[in-house]
Amino acid sequence: MSVSPPLRSMRLVSRLSEDGTIHAGLETIDLPPPAPMQVTVRMEAAPLHSSNMNSFFGPIDIERAVQTGTGDAPGLSAPLRPGTAELQKNRLGQAVPGGSEGVGTVVAAGEGAEALMNTRVAVWNNSTYCDYQVFRAEDCLVVPEDLDPADAATAFINPLTALGIIETARRHGYKALINTAAASNVGRMLLRLCKEEGLGLVCIVRSAATAQQMRDLGAEHVIDSSEEAYREKLVEAIDATGAMICFDAIGGKQAGDILTCMEASARKHSKGFGPYGSQERRHYYIYGALDPAPIEIPRSAGLAWTCSGWLFRPFFKELSPEDRKRLIVRVSDGLGTTFKGKFARTIGLTDVLRLDIAREYFQRKTDGKTLIRF
Ligand SMILES: NC(=O)c1ccc[n+]([C@@H]2O[C@H](COP(=O)([O-])OP(=O)(O)OC[C@H]3O[C@@H](n4cnc5c(N)ncnc54)[C@H](OP(=O)(O)O)[C@@H]3O)[C@@H](O)[C@H]2O)c1
Repeated sequence: MSVSPPLRSMRLVSRLSEDGTIHAGLETIDLPPPAPMQVTVRMEAAPLHSSNMNSFFGPIDIERAVQTGTGDAPGLSAPLRPGTAELQKNRLGQAVPGGSEGVGTVVAAGEGAEALMNTRVAVWNNSTYCDYQVFRAEDCLVVPEDLDPADAATAFINPLTALGIIETARRHGYKALINTAAASNVGRMLLRLCKEEGLGLVCIVRSAATAQQMRDLGAEHVIDSSEEAYREKLVEAIDATGAMICFDAIGGKQAGDILTCMEASARKHSKGFGPYGSQERRHYYIYGALDPAPIEIPRSAGLAWTCSGWLFRPFFKELSPEDRKRLIVRVSDGLGTTFKGKFARTIGLTDVLRLDIAREYFQRKTDGKTLIRF
């Protein structure tokens, strides 16, 4: 057995104060040695996903953020957006760490986890914006030494989301699906997976430039929501593919628009009529909150739809152990290819707290993702 004494680890934490302000900064903690079936990992890289910003900072107004701290130990404070304080109440008095996945090297192993000692592992299910962290051995995936840190650091969340979306669509019996914010990292993984699996895909993006990017990557049905004829083109793409299931990372008014287009397509080939529109079943899953506005579904969308949230963690947890293993093997085989991610910049841990840099990553643009290197 190889067990080390407690390690000093520097980490990012945020705290909510009574006046509704989030204060993010650095702190050093003592990390206990790994328990049986646990390992201590020296972190090498971790991604800054949109969900990490939402959970680490909360729903802050980045335009009103201010720089605090000192040059070496910067801090960032920002007020919560109006109307969001109630949902954040449970954070009061808590130190919230950041990050949800990453890659690093095992430097200490508890009993039963010795085989992982000195290996390079992708990790998840604990915070990762720190220079050392303890993980359960079962939350580690050994990755090749020469795998690009950007691919190794994002081995779980986006790949399992893309795979989970495909599994969900298949379980409902669909042969084609719609995805929004489709030029995202998840969206590009979905594009590759749909090609590999022979599934139809309608990609919705919000600019001509990203629409062209998706076509260049081989997407057949790309709809630009900023176009005048957006709705007509979406109905045509639904007609062509039969996509009656949508995975929407945005929400807001877009959900109602898409459901209405699905209804318009369904009505074209349904016989008869009724007070609630067509009877063709549709599924609408909202898996992101890129638009923080309320989700609106107008009556023109009919009523034969089911709308719900979709989160990969509960989805993954509810799978059988065999299915979980199958998906992890699939991810492992596709790291650097099917599940390749794209990053705009690499920053250090303290740079996360620099206001000029935060304003950039908060834009959540296509190809705008940030990787933290330790
Ligand atoms: N439910 C889950 O379990 C789960 C898991 C993983 C990811 N997600 C969600 O999946 C989405 C994609 O994640 P990612 O890491 O792949 O993202 P990403 O690579 O950072 O890309 C973000 C994309 O969102 C688009 N976008 C940003 N704000 C938008 C808005 N207001 N309206 C329309 N499009 C907008 C951007 O397009 P432009 O550049 O054209 O603005 C960009 O293509 C995120 O919402 C994330 O939270 C959910």
